[in-house]
Amino acid sequence: MPPKPGPHTARVTVRGVSLSVDTQGSSPTIVFVHGFPLDRSMWRALLPELPSWRRIAPDLPGMGSSAAPPGDWRMCDYADALAALLDALAVPQAVFCGLSMGGYVAFELVRRHAERLEALVLASTRAAADSPQARGARDDAIQLVAENGPAALVEPMLPRLLAPRSLSGSPHVVDHVRAMIAGNRREGVVAALRAMRERADATDLLATIAVPVLVVAGADDQIVPPAEARSMAQAISGARVTIVPEAGHLAPLEQPALVGRAIRGFLEGLG
Ligand code: MLT
Repeated sequence: MPPKPGPHTARVTVRGVSLSVDTQGSSPTIVFVHGFPLDRSMWRALLPELPSWRRIAPDLPGMGSSAAPPGDWRMCDYADALAALLDALAVPQAVFCGLSMGGYVAFELVRRHAERLEALVLASTRAAADSPQARGARDDAIQLVAENGPAALVEPMLPRLLAPRSLSGSPHVVDHVRAMIAGNRREGVVAALRAMRERADATDLLATIAVPVLVVAGADDQIVPPAEARSMAQAISGARVTIVPEAGHLAPLEQPALVGRAIRGFLEGLG
């Protein structure tokens, strides 16, 4: 099941797509952009760690309980939708925190909407485009999901998304990740896989990022290992790095207090 609407959930239509958006708190604003194939509820444990911020967490188009994107969207379209969401919410500028696919969207925001960015938190993400092998794996995943639905991704993905300690010791996190993957809709997951497969390489963009950046990586992340996160941070002027112990690809779910502390420290340092 996609996440149910809560007391802070609104429907906002941008670029013809109706989005589910959770908003809590008052300014300054931080926008949380979830990873694949997840939804806005992935930030549930982290958000209370940042009580003095306006926290906006949308379901990306086609994910969670947001409507599917019309036609074949690219990563730039997801970024344009988030810029339009800021317009709709009358937010001129925000900190963006993107995890993995959310980071790919953040790179497109840097490319296309840099004036809307106050700072960036890049979590469990990479700047490089898909290798030919990774593109082939996207095609296999598209076929799997088209034939069997997103639930078919649960077993192959779970051990790659979570650290061994989370898999064995945090059944609530495992159940939550299962529910997010299986609760997504086929067309939205396929659209996201296509957009990730076609995304542009952002390596050259890193040196152009002119806002403060915090890079967050799980010490046990198999998808974006800490060494890759560190080298991405080295390519961004002044970027800070936090490596989160006993966390895999989904550190904000696995270690929300540690990730919250790192983000709070970063945000407080912005002045
Ligand atoms: C994610 O968490 O968004 C995915 O791991 C991104 C990807 O598959 O490249």
